[in-house]
Amino acid sequence: MTDRQPGFSTLAIHAGAQPDPTTGARATPIYQTTSFVFNDADHAASLFGLQAFGNIYTRIGNPTNAVLEERVAALEGGTAALAVASGHAAQVVALQVLLKPGDEFIAARKLYGGSINQFSHAFKSFGWNVVWADTDDIASFERAVTPHTRAIFIESIANPGGTVTDIEAIAAVARKAGVPLIVDNTLASPYLIRPIDHGADIVLHSLTKFLGGHGNSIGGIIVDAGTFDWSKDGKYPILSEPRPEYHGIKLQETFGNFAFAIACRVLALRDLGPALSPFNAFMILTGIETLPLRMQKHCDNAKAIAEWLSTHPAVAGVNYAGLAGDKYNNLARKYCPKGAGAVFTISLKGGYDAGVKLVSKLQLFSHLANVGDTRSLVIHPASTTHSQLDDAQKTKSGAGPDVVRLSIGIEDKEDLIADLEQALA
Ligand SMILES: Cc1ncc(COP(=O)(O)O)c(C=O)c1O
Repeated sequence: MTDRQPGFSTLAIHAGAQPDPTTGARATPIYQTTSFVFNDADHAASLFGLQAFGNIYTRIGNPTNAVLEERVAALEGGTAALAVASGHAAQVVALQVLLKPGDEFIAARKLYGGSINQFSHAFKSFGWNVVWADTDDIASFERAVTPHTRAIFIESIANPGGTVTDIEAIAAVARKAGVPLIVDNTLASPYLIRPIDHGADIVLHSLTKFLGGHGNSIGGIIVDAGTFDWSKDGKYPILSEPRPEYHGIKLQETFGNFAFAIACRVLALRDLGPALSPFNAFMILTGIETLPLRMQKHCDNAKAIAEWLSTHPAVAGVNYAGLAGDKYNNLARKYCPKGAGAVFTISLKGGYDAGVKLVSKLQLFSHLANVGDTRSLVIHPASTTHSQLDDAQKTKSGAGPDVVRLSIGIEDKEDLIADLEQALA
């Protein structure tokens, strides 16, 4: 190997992986085992006491998952990562390290509907209080800061509206408030946006979407940027205070710039238990190898289709940040010049009924609740993913009654346009 820093496509294929030292297997093997044999009693004790790194039990770590973790950390520019069972599990594990009952976190209102539900209901029952803010009004984040704030949570490109968030402006608010900025980078993927380069301290993904990319495996990941000082003002005792279950070690003192990833693994994942299956890790790793190729095609198709839809007489509006003249086009040019992603919404002149009808008439587009598949997907959020929200929440999160969400796949764009044409007709 030369001293060259490998490029993104090289990392997408090689980061974290080596030929298997025992068998020579070139693809990463699926270590389908629950547990790992210790060398001797001292080795076992040192693993349990966090004195040595190694495998104990697949709920806490697994060699296939470790390759995935190293690969995504490399692609995002983080120090370490932790793979978990789903995107939602990543959110609960990350926040469990940061929040105690009675603490608050600020979240963008423009979020995946499932995250709005998780934050409003499940997290509330843990005593974690969400305070909503508006990414179109950065001052609303500043106004939401209180002495109880422990994190700010945004999506880089927001689901379902495909709007691009001004990460640097919100990172500045987080710095001033002395709390970490958490960015859900699911819709952009690190190919389009690397939030750590713009000030994020923690990056999350639903691996289920573009990273896995083939609509076959659920997974999530937490990436530690290694940028935040957890010991500064006593707000994060899990990271700064001695841990009784680990002989009184202090996680930040011991693990430095990957202490947050360690805490997520050895406390939150260990105790809450949403481990990723090594089989899913293998599937997602295989998907990541082609991420740059797929993502570029997703974006190019999405732009062509958004342009075509914006001239269609049945369409009242197309919300795609990649379109010249879109409200978010300047942010898209700044944060994701290679493309504004492949998930966007259209509003139909015929309102709610037209939305329901369109999804039932499309043939090549699959009507289902997912995004980021090779296949093109469609859903009417108001009657499905966002149906649990009230009307005001639906509209604020970009899922009003006339809105249809498209996730553009990597088929031939002419075939996708023909399908939309017949369905709109
Ligand atoms: C932006 C975003 N974040 C998180 C999630 C949750 O991920 P998962 O379904 O893998 O739990 C989703 C799911 O659609 C999503 O779109």
